[in-house]
Amino acid sequence: MTALSRELSAIAGRAFVEEGLSPEFGLVKASDRPDLCQFQCNGALAAAKKGGGNPRALAQKIIDHLKGYSIFTKLEIAGPGFINMDLADTTLAARAAALVKDETLGAPTSGAGRTMVIDYGGPNVAKPMHVGHLRSAIIGDSLKRLFRANGWNVVGDIHLGDWGLQMGQLISEVGLRGLAPVYFDEAFTGPYPDESPVTMEDLEELYPAASTACKADPERLELARKATAELQLGRPGYLALWKHFFTVSETGLKREYASLGVAFDLWNGEASVDPLIAPMIEDFKARGLAEMSEGALVVKVAEPTDKKEMPPLILLKSNGSVNYETTDVATIIERVRDQNPDLILYVVDQRQHLHFEQVFRAAKKAGLSGKAVLEHAGFGTMNGPDGKPFKTRAGGVMKLFDLIAMANDEAKKRLTEAGIGADYPAEEQADIAQKVGIAALKFADLANYRLTDYQFDLERFTKFEGKTGPYLQYAAVRIRSILRRAAEEGLIGTEPVVRSVEERALVLQILALPDAMEAAEEKRAPNILCEYVFTLAQAFSRFYAEHHVMSEHDEELRLARLGLCGLTLDVLVKVLDLLGIEVPNRM
Ligand code: ARG
Repeated sequence: MTALSRELSAIAGRAFVEEGLSPEFGLVKASDRPDLCQFQCNGALAAAKKGGGNPRALAQKIIDHLKGYSIFTKLEIAGPGFINMDLADTTLAARAAALVKDETLGAPTSGAGRTMVIDYGGPNVAKPMHVGHLRSAIIGDSLKRLFRANGWNVVGDIHLGDWGLQMGQLISEVGLRGLAPVYFDEAFTGPYPDESPVTMEDLEELYPAASTACKADPERLELARKATAELQLGRPGYLALWKHFFTVSETGLKREYASLGVAFDLWNGEASVDPLIAPMIEDFKARGLAEMSEGALVVKVAEPTDKKEMPPLILLKSNGSVNYETTDVATIIERVRDQNPDLILYVVDQRQHLHFEQVFRAAKKAGLSGKAVLEHAGFGTMNGPDGKPFKTRAGGVMKLFDLIAMANDEAKKRLTEAGIGADYPAEEQADIAQKVGIAALKFADLANYRLTDYQFDLERFTKFEGKTGPYLQYAAVRIRSILRRAAEEGLIGTEPVVRSVEERALVLQILALPDAMEAAEEKRAPNILCEYVFTLAQAFSRFYAEHHVMSEHDEELRLARLGLCGLTLDVLVKVLDLLGIEVPNRM
């Protein structure tokens, strides 16, 4: 099944070719003015502009060719040379019927034969996850689902921050407090204890303490830097301690991601590329791509066309430790070696854009990226009511876990207010609240274009009206309950029919799914899917308000409308799934 707009584009493309023009002018899109027509082609304007000539006259010639295709019921020139098109209701109904049998619901196949690595986690070992990591997880998970649905082979990597200064800060803190002397005893030859000397709760206290101390005292910071360098150079006690931090954190992180419904294929961290770093540095040196600057080894990445200052990338610091940049370059080597991807997509805060530009340039300079396109899909911040990045009431970093709990509580409140599920078993109520809370957070985040900042407002996010996750879940559940009632009466939907304005609008929106999926992939923009699914739910609402379904007397029509309900539900559930949103069975 090809997307309807693609099929129409192919037909219009042939018409342009017959006029000796490029088929690309034949691009047909869903109409911007659904009140005037269903589809439109603006190519005559562009072609006339390029080749000189009258756009309306060209549009007329194209229309004359298109008249040879029975699929169109209306072909009209509008304005300066737009071509407006309508299709027959029977055509729309037939396409909808074909979709019912298509498991992918017409998904594009843009990713066939292509592999992408998506880097969308980035929490730091021993540090609590914060809302920045939440955005990365939500947007990245949605892009992962979308690319996969479009046929890509997708490998999602969490890329844990586990090799930076925070590790040295922690190690030195544990050392100063004398919590686990054996790891600091240079005479000790092992083996080190299997059990971690610290718990997750300990880490939550130790890291902020260390970080504050390092900020206040340069000597304390130096100690942390030294410990980081020694860890990276392989000091056995530090490595053993690091391993404990990693394992303890991993358990906590897995729990947090699970509560968000986000899963990674790879749990690699910065440290996993450590063995690649020394040979990589040698290679940069040997090929004259790196040079010494103030004791550090750097790669110059500035280009003459740069409008902004582009500082060199620091591969190796003067004390022998490596940077965030270094591990990111080495990770490209690892990913090219292991996955040979066509695309590596980094879903990371836009404030790290410069970092990625440096890393990409260094990797390309050294020819490390293979066939992969390296791309940073940045995002803006989630702000508090003060317009600044969201904090707790006390002004601290908001922990993801607490945020999810807040969303959950707000969802519970809303459900109770609306009297939803009041007579369901407690367990089911809790499950619904959890799903609604997560949907509220995810949809509110994804509904904005990713680079736009937005304001955290749980009250708005959890509303059952308007453009929210809970509204869409409710819309899906409502259709599900219609179908359930029908099934209880032994009624099963048949092929949809299109007879009314509302049915036509609904079917057209259903048939536009592949376009939305394609556009969302192209722009790496799940908000396009949000817009799509909201419009779909509204189209359904209008249909349901105007037409009888279960109460329809005409038996045949009743079943056809049930068929349309079923297809709408499938599309709704599928798009919500692409957004990482689950629909409860009932609400
Ligand atoms: N750990 C980083 C942070 O918390 C994010 C890592 C993103 N991924 C990457 N390949 N650099 O800011």
